[in-house]
Amino acid sequence: MSGTSKLTVVGAGAVGSSVAYAAMIRGSARHIALYDIAPEKTEAEVLDLAHGSFFAGSGEITGGSDVSVAAGSDVVVITAGAKQKPGQTRIELAATNARIMDALMPQLLEVAPDAIYVVVTNPCDVLTMLAAESSGLPPERIFASGTTLDSSRLRWEIARRAGVATSSVHAQIVGEHGDTELALWSSATIGTVPILDWTQDGAPLFTREDLDAIAADVRDAAYTVIRGKGATNYAIGLSSARIVEAILRDEHAVLPVAPVLHGVHGLDGVALSVPCVVDAAGAHPLPGTPFAPEELDRLHESAESLRRVAAELRG
Ligand code: 2OP
Repeated sequence: MSGTSKLTVVGAGAVGSSVAYAAMIRGSARHIALYDIAPEKTEAEVLDLAHGSFFAGSGEITGGSDVSVAAGSDVVVITAGAKQKPGQTRIELAATNARIMDALMPQLLEVAPDAIYVVVTNPCDVLTMLAAESSGLPPERIFASGTTLDSSRLRWEIARRAGVATSSVHAQIVGEHGDTELALWSSATIGTVPILDWTQDGAPLFTREDLDAIAADVRDAAYTVIRGKGATNYAIGLSSARIVEAILRDEHAVLPVAPVLHGVHGLDGVALSVPCVVDAAGAHPLPGTPFAPEELDRLHESAESLRRVAAELRG
């Protein structure tokens, strides 16, 4: 890890600029670079971010429309690509964004050969599978931000119902960052209390049906936000900055991200989110994550769905 702890964000659209902004505010990296092929837009985003430097503490904000701005990055977060239109699924973006990733990866690897690559562009799991194959990077060094965002949504939904701090809710979404994702209710707790044992006024607060409804709200959250404002950006910006910190600070933090799995939970050759230890070397699936039988079945169904999309893209 170089002393500069350099993050490059690829894509200066709503998501990319939000990742850069969140990383700046949180102090995730000492040097943040923004790269996009649109020169005026990128330079304006860099200027607008840099103008706030005084309030965000030390740190260098650079960027531009030449890929050389990514030189020497320790972490590269890829957000470039088409975004979902209202009602459009992430999977429907696959062909278009696969072409963008195919063009980007060789250029990025040339200037940042030692970086850890985090794929945010959707469908992030499938694009991770293809980029891992084409780049030859080891699985820990290229992974999708995956359900780190969805798990944050899930924690918020539970916390607001239970009247507790979000940080006291321990619950994960795993699988596709998308329509086949699932909540690991069997291991979800508030504090050390299993979610179904949590009571309010002496009675259980959540029924199984309540939990299913919460998981559906989380699965559909992006559609809801996109319908209202045309995109999601703040929460994906913050969750991506969190992942960057775990890498640059070598935290060994457990986060649900999506490397290509090899012999993990009975899965091989597919990228989807499971709890991983994230550190300076990248993402390492956490052995021993407990799954209820139906949860493991749904994880495998999610994997099959992603395999089908990747196979179609390979042609
Ligand atoms: C999200 O879930 C669109 O994948 C993006 O906010």
